[in-house]
Amino acid sequence: MITINPSLKSRIHSIDFNNLPFGQVFSDNMLVCSYKDGKWGSTEIKEYGNISISPAAQVLHYGQAVFEGMKAFKDSDENILFFRRDENFKRLNQSAKRMAIPEISKETFFNGLDQLLKLDEKWCKSENGFSIYIRPFLFASQSCIKASSSEEYTFMIILSPTKEYYTDPINLVIEQEYSRAASGGVGFAKAAGNYGASFFPTNLAKKKGFTQVIWTDSNTHEYIEESGTMNIWFVIDNILVTPALSDSILGGITRDSIIKIAKDLGYQVQEREVSVNEILEAHKSGMLDESFGTGTAVSVLPISSITYKDIKINFQNSNLISSKLKDKLLSIQKGLLKDNYGWIDCLNY
Ligand SMILES: Cc1ncc(COP(=O)(O)O)c(C=O)c1O
Repeated sequence: MITINPSLKSRIHSIDFNNLPFGQVFSDNMLVCSYKDGKWGSTEIKEYGNISISPAAQVLHYGQAVFEGMKAFKDSDENILFFRRDENFKRLNQSAKRMAIPEISKETFFNGLDQLLKLDEKWCKSENGFSIYIRPFLFASQSCIKASSSEEYTFMIILSPTKEYYTDPINLVIEQEYSRAASGGVGFAKAAGNYGASFFPTNLAKKKGFTQVIWTDSNTHEYIEESGTMNIWFVIDNILVTPALSDSILGGITRDSIIKIAKDLGYQVQEREVSVNEILEAHKSGMLDESFGTGTAVSVLPISSITYKDIKINFQNSNLISSKLKDKLLSIQKGLLKDNYGWIDCLNY
């Protein structure tokens, strides 16, 4: 059951869509659902705005929270196209399970999203480069500062219109001291604390002029894991190589899509351990052709340079395999190419 009390006056006319800072502009409405007494209650869609929580809400003290990041696009006939949202639904509940948060039902997630997007469809522009970023999230909202899992939770979905994320060259540095995630931990989940913990080392790297760090395994710092909010890829001797998933890497939905697209375009793809040493050696022997990141926010993003200690690897920026992969992915997402994968579902009005 969804109760809809929409905003009465849209803010859309006050928004400059040509200058959209990522993640700071939100649509008119949002979805809220609460968990209490062992069950999820009814869902409400209402005007986007501040929420009130207790200062003792457990999420503020113990970080029991997970989220998703997904996109919908608009085709030239103004249809809203969701991209692989069933995968985001699955991953949200996997993350929730790991963080001892009760799972969300299909009905709440899919029907809730449909109703919200129907109300706020104007916030998703059909022009090239635009999409609507969808942020579902779950957090512990019980007023209780005992260090144990909460008995009350809140599920919300907010929508943020977006344009392409990074426009500047991406200069990465291989992290040698700090770790994003450890074996047996929560790195595979979209747990809020993973991101909070990454900001300090990332800020240190930014002060040195880098865009992001490339995370390495927490035991030896010898194996590459991922970077920022992207999975990472290397093109070595024309083979596309990406680190195999583990419990310390987030299994990206874009990563999975690019694996399938690349194979169908005839590229060889390897998911396996990738050592820092291998990358340095491949560079030395002239076999390292390019590197790129994949993620919902960035799509497919060419990397300009990778630094390890005093070695800087610069990548060329023309005739990139990553551009071909990005074009194909975006064309499917925008409904310009036939979706042979069953990735797109169209919002029915
Ligand atoms: C840590 C991390 N790795 C990888 C990704 C890429 O995942 P996806 O392609 O599902 O957006 C993200 C973004 O969600 C992320 O936060």
